[in-house]
Amino acid sequence: MIISNDVSLIYPDKTQALIDINIDIRPGELVYITGPSGSGKTSLLKLIMGMEYPTTGSLSVFGKSINNSRSGNIRKIRRSIGPVFQEFKLIEGRTSLENVMMGMRFLGAMPKQMKTSANEALEKVGLSHKKLSRVENLSWGESQRVAIARAVARKPSLILADEPTGNLDYDNAINILGLLKSFMNENTTVIITTHATHLIKDEQNATFISVDKGRIEIERR
Ligand SMILES: Nc1ncnc2c1ncn2[C@@H]1O[C@H](COP(=O)(O)OP(=O)(O)O)[C@@H](O)[C@H]1O
Ligand SMILES: [Mg+2]
Repeated sequence: MIISNDVSLIYPDKTQALIDINIDIRPGELVYITGPSGSGKTSLLKLIMGMEYPTTGSLSVFGKSINNSRSGNIRKIRRSIGPVFQEFKLIEGRTSLENVMMGMRFLGAMPKQMKTSANEALEKVGLSHKKLSRVENLSWGESQRVAIARAVARKPSLILADEPTGNLDYDNAINILGLLKSFMNENTTVIITTHATHLIKDEQNATFISVDKGRIEIERR
C-alpha cells in the first residue's frame, strides 16, 4: 500500500533529508520508524501524506502516485489517513469533542453521524469524561489522546503518528503506544515514529525502519 522506489527528498535549501528510500509497506502492518533527531523520520511521514514530494524516485500510496502534479491523488489519499502530528494541531477554545469532529470535516458524513463517531473515538481513547473540556485545559497526555481520537474517528486505513510519546514517562508512553497498536487490524496500517528505541526494543510482529542521516534500514521481526 506504500511503495517507494529510490525516493530522495532534498529540501529547497539543499538539505538531503532522505536518500534512496525503498519501502513496501502492506495493509495491516505495524511499522516503527526510529532514528535520532534530524535523521529524517518526519520527512518520511510527510512524503507519505503528500505534504512533501519526492525530489527523485517514485512513491505510491494506496496505489496512487504521489508527486507534485497529482494533487487530485493526494486529496484522495489523505481521506484514508488518520494523522497524529507531533504538535497535535488541536484548535484552542474548542472542546475535545469539537476537535475530534473537526477531523471528520470533508469526509462527507452527516453531523449526527460525525458526533456519534467522535463520541465513540473519545470512548476508545479513554477520554469520554473530558469530551466537553476545552483542549487548552488538558494535560499533554490527554491532548495526545484527543489527537489520536481525531485521527481514528476518520476510520482511516493508515494511521501516521509522529513522536506520539513525546517526553511522557515510561508507563504513559507504553500506554500511548498500546492504544495506537489497538487500532491496527488487517485493513489498518499503523506507522509510528519515535526516537525512544528503548520503548519498543522487545516488540515482535512489527517492521522497524531505522533512519540514519536520511538512509534507512528495514528489519521485520
Ligand atoms: N522544511 C524543511 N526545509 C529544510 N530542511 C528541513 C525541513 N524539514 C526538515 N528539514 C531538515 O531535514 C532533516 C530531517 O528532518 P526531520 O525529517 O524533521 O527529522 P526527524 O523527524 O527525524 O527529527 C534535518 O536536517 C532537518 O533540519
Ligand atoms: Mg520529527
